[in-house]
Amino acid sequence: MAKSKTFMLSILRIALALLFSSFAAAEEEPRFDRNLSPKSLGLRKEKLTHLRFYMHDVMSGPKPTAVKIAEAQMANTSSSFFGLLDMADDPLTAGPEPESKLVGKGQGMFGFADQNELGLVMLFNFAFTEGKYNGSTLSMLGRNMVLTAVREMPIVGGSGVFRFARGYAQAKTHTLDAKTGDAVVEFNVYVFHY
Ligand SMILES: *[C@@H]1O[C@H](CO)[C@@H](O)[C@H](O)[C@H]1NC(C)=O
Ligand SMILES: *[C@@H]1O[C@H](CO)[C@@H](O)[C@H](O)[C@H]1NC(C)=O
Repeated sequence: MAKSKTFMLSILRIALALLFSSFAAAEEEPRFDRNLSPKSLGLRKEKLTHLRFYMHDVMSGPKPTAVKIAEAQMANTSSSFFGLLDMADDPLTAGPEPESKLVGKGQGMFGFADQNELGLVMLFNFAFTEGKYNGSTLSMLGRNMVLTAVREMPIVGGSGVFRFARGYAQAKTHTLDAKTGDAVVEFNVYVFHY
């Protein structure tokens, strides 16, 4: 008799435990993370794309595309302009001429980050408007020693067709007006993306 009573009690205890645990499950926090298969985001084969374009950095004239936005007090006493920061919204074209086909904009900041040489920290988004790239962006973050023939900077990510992008950009000065600072820079960008 006592035995079956103990048995009944333990059944009851288990039933209650189940009931409360299902209540607890219902009150769980919203889900924060989950594993996904790449296919569920439509990601299939990774591809490698090469883009070549020219960035027009106009510092002079009535319509500059790059402007000074900040300057440390000592920047004008530094031979390398250390402490100067510029903001750019530069046209990107398919060829080196300004009238060449517009393929996007290079928007970002470049700061003079080297105390001894002309060395920039580049923080740029390339916002494309051409064909299947229209609306997609690539983000570049790197060091630009402007007097070096070819400067390499990492592509750290992208959006649109460039989701999950990674790669590098090589910048080569095409023309530079030493007096005004106006420059046309050739970019060769190599990116993996889906
Ligand atoms: C450098 O800039 C400061 C302001 O930031 C100004 O007071 C000073 O006169 C400038 N010096 C020269 C040599 O242009
Ligand atoms: C790019 O997309 C925008 C917005 O969808 C559209 O207005 C524009 O005409 C497109 N540009 C080109 C060159 O296709």
